[in-house]
Amino acid sequence: MATWRTSTQTLVLLCFLVLTKVNFLEAAESNTRSQNVACIERERNALLEFRKGLKDPSGWLSSWVGKDCCNWTGVNCSNTTGNVVVLHLKTMDYCGSVGHSEAFNRGTCLSGTLSPSLLNLTYLSYLDLSGNNFQGIPIPEFIGSLKTLRYLDLSRAAFIGEVPRSLGNLSYLEYLAANNWVEAVNMLPSLTTLDFLLCELQDFAESLTINFTSLSVLDLSYNNFNTTIPFWLFNITTLQRVNLQRSEIKGSLPEVSRGSLCNLRTLDLSLNAINGKIKGFIDALGGCGNNTLDYLDLSSNNLQGKLPDFLGNLKYLSVLRLAQNSFSGSLPWSIGNLSNLVMLDLPFNFMNGAIVESIGQLTRIATLNLYGNSWEGTITENHFRNLSRLSIFALSSIGKSVVFNLNPDWVPSFSLYEIAISNCQLGPRFPTWLRTQVDAFEIILSGAGISDIIPVWFWNLTSRLWVGGSFG
Ligand SMILES: *[C@@H]1O[C@H](CO)[C@@H](O)[C@H](O)[C@H]1NC(C)=O
Ligand SMILES: *[C@@H]1O[C@H](CO)[C@@H](O)[C@H](O)[C@H]1NC(C)=O
Ligand SMILES: *[C@@H]1O[C@H](CO)[C@@H](O)[C@H](O)[C@H]1NC(C)=O
Ligand SMILES: *[C@@H]1O[C@H](CO)[C@@H](O)[C@H](O)[C@H]1NC(C)=O
Ligand SMILES: *[C@@H]1O[C@H](CO)[C@@H](O)[C@H](O)[C@H]1NC(C)=O
Ligand SMILES: *[C@@H]1O[C@H](CO)[C@@H](O)[C@H](O)[C@H]1NC(C)=O
Ligand SMILES: *[C@@H]1O[C@H](CO)[C@@H](O)[C@H](O)[C@H]1NC(C)=O
Ligand SMILES: *[C@@H]1O[C@H](CO)[C@@H](O)[C@H](O)[C@H]1NC(C)=O
Ligand SMILES: *[C@@H]1O[C@H](CO)[C@@H](O)[C@H](O)[C@H]1NC(C)=O
Ligand SMILES: *[C@@H]1O[C@H](CO)[C@@H](O)[C@H](O)[C@H]1NC(C)=O
Ligand SMILES: *[C@@H]1O[C@H](CO)[C@@H](O)[C@H](O)[C@H]1NC(C)=O
Ligand SMILES: *[C@@H]1O[C@H](CO)[C@@H](O)[C@H](O)[C@H]1NC(C)=O
Repeated sequence: MATWRTSTQTLVLLCFLVLTKVNFLEAAESNTRSQNVACIERERNALLEFRKGLKDPSGWLSSWVGKDCCNWTGVNCSNTTGNVVVLHLKTMDYCGSVGHSEAFNRGTCLSGTLSPSLLNLTYLSYLDLSGNNFQGIPIPEFIGSLKTLRYLDLSRAAFIGEVPRSLGNLSYLEYLAANNWVEAVNMLPSLTTLDFLLCELQDFAESLTINFTSLSVLDLSYNNFNTTIPFWLFNITTLQRVNLQRSEIKGSLPEVSRGSLCNLRTLDLSLNAINGKIKGFIDALGGCGNNTLDYLDLSSNNLQGKLPDFLGNLKYLSVLRLAQNSFSGSLPWSIGNLSNLVMLDLPFNFMNGAIVESIGQLTRIATLNLYGNSWEGTITENHFRNLSRLSIFALSSIGKSVVFNLNPDWVPSFSLYEIAISNCQLGPRFPTWLRTQVDAFEIILSGAGISDIIPVWFWNLTSRLWVGGSFG
């Protein structure tokens, strides 16, 4: 009993078998018995009793006759002891949902009730009933007493109601797939990793007395929550990696108290419909003196407002993705303090101020994507002062203009791979510094206000040249 409190646990909801097989499954497989170990009578009776409770209109379990229960469909035994270790009654057929009678079933679909006779399978480590249609019965309490379980999948099987608290007794459990995930998981304070991606989850409990004391990795991406981020989520101070990508999150970011997400390293909220401003949120993150946030992806949401000054406090940030939102204003000067930044991805927003010279201090930056905004002001050599690692540079200004005011003899310290400059004043002279860009794979220059004709050397830089607008 004490083990699950002290040891750490990992739960993975295996919704569409996105994960590769893990070790204990291999062990279960190699455990298939040799022919001379017979089915144990007590366990055979338990299986027969279990079958009695089930409705099986397709006759899926018709092989469940005779003495050799280890040979029955969905049953695997230990090859040394003959004990039943696996009960694998997952179906991939469509079995309908609550409200559909079993007459609806056309494939291998089970319904009915789950007999506690399973408790007599003393070595059962793997139980998968997913995809069947139990028509709204609750998950029985006794499941929590199957103490040897390591893998439990009850997902998409039309169980309704609370996941029983007794699941917290499953000390060896490594995989759990069930509905009502929040309540189930909250009973496992020692949980460190919760990986519920692609689960069609809809329930994201609005309120919860949080019980997690060790949760550090939370992946709920690709679900269908259709709700705001519940305010309790960011009160889990142990979180290090959070992924809510494409999970139908809407509304504004929850209020986070300063210094409550100090362990966060990765946060991905991309591809949702989150709106409002990010100032409070960034202030909270940047308010941790010891913050180690390394990856922040807020792209493809409806976020707006200015990028806050506190951004510059996230000094370990290496990837900052803010593409396809409605951010406006200029870049904060403090961005120059992000000395670990490798990627700044900000295309397709409404940024409309000057591009601050402090970006010239981003010594590690490789990708600077400022395309599709309404920038103004002037770009000088100072903007590129320390950007020797720059590889992708994209800049365009819609409706406004940015003027490049570079010394004609300027030799940049970078060698770009991709260059895209549109709707800016790069000319009127043809920019000679481009001649140094011999590693370029693709160059896009359009509406760059150049009045010279294109020099011959330019055509030799790369075969992928896209030039538009008027040249000489
Ligand atoms: C059960 O045994 C069969 C035959 O050995 C094997 O193919 C299958 O993977 C096993 N199932 C599980 C869940 O271990
Ligand atoms: C029984 O399982 C063990 C490992 O658990 C494996 O090494 C052995 O080959 C298996 N024996 C048979 C007959 O399948
Ligand atoms: C059970 O074993 C026999 C051979 O012993 C085999 O012919 C039969 O197909 C097996 N049944 C199942 C359901 O695996
Ligand atoms: C387990 O099996 C014994 C007989 O071997 C039986 O008396 C008992 O009721 C069974 N337990 C459950 C929970 O079905
Ligand atoms: C779970 O464990 C508690 C003790 O920690 C015990 O009181 C309870 O009966 C157990 N529940 C089940 C379903 O085994
Ligand atoms: C918190 O975890 C403890 C220990 O497992 C459990 O007894 C308690 O019911 C849980 N509280 C909630 C609100 O789930
Ligand atoms: C999402 O929730 C809103 C109400 O908040 C509802 O009108 C809408 O139909 C829901 N969308 C989906 C896909 O469930
Ligand atoms: C979150 O933490 C703050 C500060 O510690 C506290 O005031 C608030 O009540 C907490 N909220 C929840 C839902 O635990
Ligand atoms: C940062 O400090 C807070 C307390 O101020 C502490 O809880 C947290 O563990 C620290 N984080 C790291 C990564 O050291
Ligand atoms: C970087 O931070 C220091 C203080 O920590 C500040 O004095 C300096 O102005 C900042 N630089 C930028 C570019 O914001
Ligand atoms: C930035 O470049 C200037 C010279 O252009 C140099 O003096 C300075 O040390 C560089 N800063 C960093 C952090 O590399
Ligand atoms: C362009 O490349 C061709 C063949 O690689 C070479 O003959 C020619 O001199 C080059 N022109 C210039 C201007 O570098």
